[in-house]
Amino acid sequence: MPLVTTTEMFKKAYNGGYAIGAFNVNNMEIIQGITEACQETHSPVILQVSKGARAYANHTYLVKLVEAALIECPEIPMALHLDHGPDFETCKSCIDGGFTSVMIDGSSKSFEENIALTRQVVDYAHAHGVVVEAELGTLAGIEDDVNVSAEDSSYTRPEEVEEFVDRTGCDSLAIAIGTSHGAYKFKPGTDPHLRFDVLHEIEKKLPGFPIVLHGASSVPQEFVAAINKFGGNMPGAIGVPEDQLREAARSAVCKINIDSDIRLAMTATIRQFMHEHPDKFDPREYLKPARAAVKAMVHHKIVDVLGSNDRI
Ligand code: G3H
Ligand code: 13P
Ligand code: ZN
Repeated sequence: MPLVTTTEMFKKAYNGGYAIGAFNVNNMEIIQGITEACQETHSPVILQVSKGARAYANHTYLVKLVEAALIECPEIPMALHLDHGPDFETCKSCIDGGFTSVMIDGSSKSFEENIALTRQVVDYAHAHGVVVEAELGTLAGIEDDVNVSAEDSSYTRPEEVEEFVDRTGCDSLAIAIGTSHGAYKFKPGTDPHLRFDVLHEIEKKLPGFPIVLHGASSVPQEFVAAINKFGGNMPGAIGVPEDQLREAARSAVCKINIDSDIRLAMTATIRQFMHEHPDKFDPREYLKPARAAVKAMVHHKIVDVLGSNDRI
């Protein structure tokens, strides 16, 4: 099937009490690992591309790799989404270049500036059959070249969401409830808790409207341990507990973003392979188990966290 927008996916996810995984893609092995897991579990999926991914791999290569995945996995509904679109021009380039969904990230702007920019993207996107994710509230962590400290992050204000959605016409809304980007989300020794009270307030204000959770990697400790054992140094890397993500997936959260866990799965596997096979130098030999690790991780997320298996 051709690429789809997220409209139908989100409607079913909202009503079915599950979420669609939005996985960041940067190369062939990541795309293959994710889509093979979706094939095995009969799960719809969002493949998302950041500004950094476009700079690294090139827009055309990524689109063509995703097209290859569509041919290989013909029954899987797939959306191709721009992650953290920084400006109108980048969104327009992705809309013109075959994406079915874009995010315009105006979360660092004032409320009025965020509305104006999002509205501009929505008008262009909707005229071209593309859907738009917007963001209100700021997550801590690093996205592309923007680094937001924990002190500068702020939860989404439930009293603002209705006006924002009404005035922008956006199709889904990313909110800040305590998740953050990267592998260091919480301080060691603390008890990580998402602000479900804020989420439920937002749900009440926007009945039936799809909510998006960024910064939702769980930073599996077996990957961190393997990285540290085989030459890496990532002390205190901690993610969002998976039971809290599962709870979020049952609510209005219809899209859960995962990137860091892909990076950790690949890095842990490659470090271990290199350690155990110091004489090997064929990239296919270490990328093959790395791709398998991405596939196993995504399979686990779909079945045990998102609940998007057997939904096609
Ligand atoms: O939220 C950001 C995503 O993890 C993308 O990361 O900008 O390094 O590609 P990136
Ligand atoms: P993680 O860093 O938690 O994987 O978040 C990814 C993300 O939100 C991409 O937009
Ligand atoms: Zn994000």
